[in-house]
Parts: sequence; C-alpha cells; structure tokens
Amino acid sequence: SKSYQAKFKVWRGNSEGGELKDYTVEVNEGEVVLDIIFRIQAEQANDMSVRWNCKAGKCGSCSAEINGRPRLMCMTRMSSLPPGEEVVVTPMRTFPVIKDLVTDVSFNYEKAKQIPAFAPKPREADGTYRMAQVDVERGQEFRKCIECFMCQNVCHVIRDHEENKPAFAGPRFFIRLSELDMHPLDTNDRQKLAQEKHGLGMCNITKCCTEVCPEHIKITDNGIIPLKERVVDRKYDPLFKIFGLSNKK
Ligand code: SF4
Ligand code: F3S
Ligand code: FES
Repeated sequence: SKSYQAKFKVWRGNSEGGELKDYTVEVNEGEVVLDIIFRIQAEQANDMSVRWNCKAGKCGSCSAEINGRPRLMCMTRMSSLPPGEEVVVTPMRTFPVIKDLVTDVSFNYEKAKQIPAFAPKPREADGTYRMAQVDVERGQEFRKCIECFMCQNVCHVIRDHEENKPAFAGPRFFIRLSELDMHPLDTNDRQKLAQEKHGLGMCNITKCCTEVCPEHIKITDNGIIPLKERVVDRKYDPLFKIFGLSNKK
C-alpha cells in the first residue's frame, strides 16, 4: 500500500492562547487533510476540536489555514501538498478562536443581518413579475457561495485590522450586494448602501478573496469591480448630480 507517516503541526488552544503541537500520523492514498485531522483526533488527541459537516466541499464548515493559506480541509488532498514536508494546520486568523481549529465566525452573521432583504417592486397589472433571462443569469454565479468565509478571512482590510471590522462588510457581502444590485426587481439602493454603510471604498481590489474561493466565484471581477464602477458612474453622472436621479438599471 501507499501509506506513509506524515508530520503535522496543529494549532491547539483557545481564546486565551495556544501553540502548534507536533503529530506524526499515518496517511493513506487518496486522503484529504480532514481525514488526517480525524486520525489525530481518534488516536492521539481525543479533545481536539474541528468543525465539519459534509466532507464534500459544500457546507463551508471546515475552513482553516493549511501552510498559511485558507483552504477547506475536506477538499485538500494530501497528494496536493509538497511531499515530505511538514503540514501546518491553523484556525482562520481573522476570526476569534473558540478552540483549536474552530473559530467564531459570527462577525459574518452580523454583517449578513445588516444587509436589507430583497425588496421587489410591485407586480405588473396582470399580477406577475417579469424579468429577462439575461438578468436572471447575471446574479447566479454569486448564489454558489457556500459561506466558508475564506474570502473574509484572507482580505487584508480586516485580516490584521480589527479596527476596520465595524465599517467593512467584506467580499462575501459585496457579492451579495452586487447580486441584489443586478436584480431587476430589487428597489433598494444597493450602491449607496455598499458605499456608505458597508465599506466598499476600503476594498482596493487586491483580489486575494477571489484566489481562495472554493466555488471559483469571480468575486472581484464580476462582483466588486462592477459595483464600484456603477457607484463611480453615478457620482459623475450629471443628471444624477443635478436631479438626484437614480441610474439603477
Ligand atoms: Fe467562500 Fe467563495 Fe462564498 Fe467567500 S464567496 S464565502 S470564498 S464560497
Ligand atoms: Fe479584500 Fe477582495 Fe477587496 S481581498 S481588498 S475584498 S478585492
Ligand atoms: Fe463541508 Fe468541508 S466539511 S465543506
């Protein structure tokens, strides 16, 4: 068989502090990092905490940092990591640690609550809503989000800047705002919200968010940049300036 012994360093601790602990552990062909964490848990550290649900890259629960990069543990094959090198697994850095690999991601739920729900315009006279297929399709990409919050974790605006957190919603919520802004039936002014309440202007398009998205959502190019452009267009649109007209499409 193709089993071998790997060296792991896993962060152990809680909100008070912690440290990397060494584990030497068996790896079998086809295994992912989450399998190895389970094996450490079963054989060497029964009290190690890890959050997971689906083991299929769909629930977004098992986000952590592997060798310093945000990854889903269940989707990271051992064979994709540099052979023979130690594997370092740490909790997401941007959110407070609860225990070991489990972080408190409630920052994101608070941000979600601050975005007003879809607010459709009234129905047509015949009681229906109508929208073009092309408009339906534009927002679909953003609906693939599994809320792993790795984009939020990696964004430098908040990664080491606790002080920016109150004013900045983060990439996951910029795509939510962008999706609503693109929606032909939504009546809320999402551009104004994004700019004035959710810190869109603090994003300087470093694209780190896009690089880590496991759903390959083009967060920056298809979500953030178009939203920024629409905000800018509107600022310099003379009609908008003079009459306060919305150019929302
Ligand atoms: Fe995760 Fe991508 Fe959703 Fe961000 S946009 S939370 S990286 S799935
Ligand atoms: Fe942050 Fe993504 Fe903008 S990483 S700075 S939200 S492009
Ligand atoms: Fe569900 Fe990894 S356990 S995404």
